[in-house]
Amino acid sequence: MLLDTLLAVRRRSEALIAPLEPEDLMLQGMPDASPPKWHLGHTTWFFDTFVLQPHAPGHQACDPLWSYQFNSYYEAVGARHPRPQRGLLSRPAIAEVLAWRQRVDAGLEALLQDPPEGVTALVELGLQHEQQHQELLLMDLLDGFHRQPLEPIYNPEAELSLPMAPVKWLPCHGGLTEIGHQGDKFHFDNETPQHRVWLEPFELSNSLVSNAAYAAFITDGGYQRPELWMSEGWALVQEHQWQAPRYWRGDTTEFTLAGRRGRDPQAPVRHLSWFEADAYARWSGGRLPTEEEWEHAYGLHGSAMQNAHRVLWQWTASAYSPYPGFRPVEGAIGEYNGKFMSSQMVLRGSSWLTPKGHERDSYRNFFPPASRWMASGIRLAR
Ligand SMILES: [Fe+2]
Repeated sequence: MLLDTLLAVRRRSEALIAPLEPEDLMLQGMPDASPPKWHLGHTTWFFDTFVLQPHAPGHQACDPLWSYQFNSYYEAVGARHPRPQRGLLSRPAIAEVLAWRQRVDAGLEALLQDPPEGVTALVELGLQHEQQHQELLLMDLLDGFHRQPLEPIYNPEAELSLPMAPVKWLPCHGGLTEIGHQGDKFHFDNETPQHRVWLEPFELSNSLVSNAAYAAFITDGGYQRPELWMSEGWALVQEHQWQAPRYWRGDTTEFTLAGRRGRDPQAPVRHLSWFEADAYARWSGGRLPTEEEWEHAYGLHGSAMQNAHRVLWQWTASAYSPYPGFRPVEGAIGEYNGKFMSSQMVLRGSSWLTPKGHERDSYRNFFPPASRWMASGIRLAR
């Protein structure tokens, strides 16, 4: 069962690069993004380093220089190639990376016939990690393609088109509630421990903010009015001359994985920073929900809270910090989430780029507040 899921996830990563040209595989539009080939290598390095090397006797570890190239941020594993320069890595060639993937898959398949203690959990983590990178690959590719005059089309089908329902406010009475992952199904360490929080009464919008609503904010001088912005966000507006969400082009189109497309006024606005989401919320008379409010409201209202999943990640007012009692696991794997709990904001839900089955109600996605290239949107609270 785990093996079947694992192999399906591994095949999907390879299917994601099928529409690409060889040159696209090295495309790195900015230091925050990584080339598709690097994502395929790095996810394989993860299994090689954390599953096969410690647990599969006789496994031949990858070349130390490959480890140097494909280590992302694990200090315990050693030095690594600078992230902003991943686009320089023309070698190993994609054929070598794909052959490595096959060797690692074969090793995992053999190991899972009679897995030593703890290995199943590590494989599951590697599988979920690879799913995270599938979404990263797509958002990084969108960034890389949007910088090109020829406006490449990744996949004409790969588009989100979903009109938002008229806003209805969902009442939440607040009080003492439990937050965090419960049960023994897979979850990341940062979703625990489950703990109690006190919530004041609030209301949450049943839908996401639409392009038309966001356009009204722009028309009303949203990007010219410092009183709507956090100081740090206002400085970014000046520095980068932000005037609209990242992929809007002119008054009527936006750049997407399906190329340049007409902008549906009723579709949810997307690809904006936390600062833009926060400024919009202030302009509208509302605010962003905390992550606890988001999770509580979804538990309370379920599907009436529309588009909670599989549309856009939703910025929250919550800083990404440890839940009370959180302890990262010992060793290199403890670097997975815990060491990033500063200077980032939490997004909840999932997006249309999130692999199916990867989403979870207690999922805590996180990005620096200036980031705009992920599939982010806005749900309001008041
Ligand atoms: Fe990673």
